[in-house]
Amino acid sequence: MIQIISTKPYTDQKMGTAGLRKKSKVMMQEHYFENFLQSIFNTINPSGKTFIVGGDGRFYNDIALQKLIKMSAANNVKKLIIGQNGYLSTPASSNLILKRHTDGGFVLSASHNPGGENGDFGIKFATQTGGQCSSQVSDQIYANTQTISEFKIYNSPDIDLSQIGLYKMGSMEIEIIDPIVDYVELMKEIFDFNLIKEMFQKGFTMRFDAMNAVTGPYAVRIFEDILGAAKGSVLNAVPKPDFGGLHPDPNLVYAAELVKIMYADDAPDFGAANDGDGDRNMILGKKFFVTPSDSLAILTDNYNLIPAYKNGIYGVAKSMATSTAVARVAANKKIGYYEVPTGWKYFVNLMDSKRITFCGEESFGTGSSHIREKDGIWAVLFWLNIIAATGKSVEQITLEHWKKYGRSYYLRFDFDGISTDTANLLMKDLTLKLPSLNGQKINCFEVDKAETFVYNDPVDHSSTTNGLRILFADGSRIVYRLSGTSSSGATLRVYIERFNRDNLQADPRIMVDELLKIAMDIAEIQQRTGKKEADVTT
Ligand code: G1P
Ligand code: ZN
Repeated sequence: MIQIISTKPYTDQKMGTAGLRKKSKVMMQEHYFENFLQSIFNTINPSGKTFIVGGDGRFYNDIALQKLIKMSAANNVKKLIIGQNGYLSTPASSNLILKRHTDGGFVLSASHNPGGENGDFGIKFATQTGGQCSSQVSDQIYANTQTISEFKIYNSPDIDLSQIGLYKMGSMEIEIIDPIVDYVELMKEIFDFNLIKEMFQKGFTMRFDAMNAVTGPYAVRIFEDILGAAKGSVLNAVPKPDFGGLHPDPNLVYAAELVKIMYADDAPDFGAANDGDGDRNMILGKKFFVTPSDSLAILTDNYNLIPAYKNGIYGVAKSMATSTAVARVAANKKIGYYEVPTGWKYFVNLMDSKRITFCGEESFGTGSSHIREKDGIWAVLFWLNIIAATGKSVEQITLEHWKKYGRSYYLRFDFDGISTDTANLLMKDLTLKLPSLNGQKINCFEVDKAETFVYNDPVDHSSTTNGLRILFADGSRIVYRLSGTSSSGATLRVYIERFNRDNLQADPRIMVDELLKIAMDIAEIQQRTGKKEADVTT
């Protein structure tokens, strides 16, 4: 029953910040998915192992899942635990890896990238830590893709994924499970559901935009069915293969429907959105937006209000590009503080070694050591729990936070669709230029340090470089990175942070403008890319 099929390597199967992400049409090429999966199997030896499997329901999930099942059976996998209909959010999958003590898992998703035949598709591979595999493992997998000559696949009809139950393919067991129950249980262990429920009973209103992606069913079950938010509080609740044409990235640009509701005069008390696979979140109050960097700082500052954390937390970590707001909270609370490269996998060692409890990224990612991925619904529940415990609005909570700690005005500017050569050369030249900026004064900003960011992992002692940064004496910063998740061409990300202790309610775009100009000048962005301004600002 096991077929051995000859194949030829593809040269472009290197994982980025989070798994392998490509245009759907690239993934649909003959043996493309099979080559990549077999390379993972060749690297990790799956024989006798158990994996969690799911995805965000996007286009090509159904076909890729059947390939994954048949190839697992042919590669001697002991058992697959699969979300019903192939659905599992990234956080739910991480939870199951830990809860069921499996050897790892696969999430078929390109996260917040658009889906559909003309959109993107992706595969994330997690190890038994519940987090995505390390760069060292992904390098080995990539090396394997470069020499692969055959893959193994079981000759069998497709498995029907719509019915919960136990099945077999050859000697491999298949367990199809409810994708939601275990996740809901975990959330109930962390947060004060009764308190939040009371708040809804008293008339609190919210909208959650699931963006036609995987969190819809989770959100309906948790917010509407269990916590008692009004029916219809969850928008775009049914997962669709093309996300109904939405770009399922929860930010002010792409979650436009929610933003319109939250900025209307009759806005509900609270608004939130999640991305394609449910690990990103955006938090809104009435006519009020909380940056993800501030959100991480505010959650950390309020940990004592949450049942699971009230007895104390370990430290906190952020990706280097994320604003320094949380650093000030960590200093105040006297807890450990770490800055890692972009990508959730860099938090995993810190969580496993109990150095940190919370972590976050500016890219709408927040989470804790309850799992090893960022967690969109967790962040929403955390905010609801704080609001229920304090009786304060999102805006009040945030304003009070700024009064206590000062405000990091922060925006990210993305320059999309640059040719890879142009982008690489820009970064290379900038790397060489940075040392000459040290100690210089640019307008009124004094450069403290201009350098390549190098992360030395305190646990496995690996060293990673990720992005360039210019740190100014007043606490402001400019960071440059190339995206590791774009499915074609290059995206240059420029992150600007301007710190202010007194002027707390200004327009962020105005506050960062001068630094943005400086950043564009230093890197010669317009000359080199032809772009006068960023394509997307978040
Ligand atoms: C982007 C984000 C990063 C996040 C990743 C996966 O990666 O910037 O914070 O971890 O998506 O969600 P990038 O494209 O910048 O490499
Ligand atoms: Zn995601």
